[in-house]
Amino acid sequence: MTGTLNRVEVLHGVNLDMLGKRDSNHYGTLTLVELEVRIRHWSRELGLEASFFHTNSEGEFVERLHQAPQLTDALVLNPGAWTHYSYAIRDALEIAAMPAIEVHLSDVDMREEWRRRSVLTDLVTGRVAGKGPDGYREALEILAGELGVEPPAA
Ligand code: DQA
Repeated sequence: MTGTLNRVEVLHGVNLDMLGKRDSNHYGTLTLVELEVRIRHWSRELGLEASFFHTNSEGEFVERLHQAPQLTDALVLNPGAWTHYSYAIRDALEIAAMPAIEVHLSDVDMREEWRRRSVLTDLVTGRVAGKGPDGYREALEILAGELGVEPPAA
């Protein structure tokens, strides 16, 4: 424990590993690895330390949320389609009880009706949707503010 709370875990849910092969109108052209490179770069700029986790298994996502308080100080999560219906992930996020930002690459509020609903929204510190990869930067900025982290001196 250094005393500085600056760790952020970025959780990618179902089908996010298919970025680069999904509809580029909604999800852009970056692969998940390329997205993570950007997120790591932004994290460093902001004085945050990013870690990453992806799974296509809802149970594994839940278990990672159970471990989150031991692993990190805050969360950025894009659970993909689970966002819209997984009460299991909702309950696990409530148990984790930590600052969390929900991110969606696409503008879920302007797409199909079923994507407009998130079962997580009232639990999260903030929500960013429809800004593509830059939405992750915005999420990190919000968390840096929440954690009181200052950017490192240039
Ligand atoms: C998504 C939006 C979800 O509706 C969809 O199921 C995804 C990705 C997004 O990042 O825009 O898989 O969370």
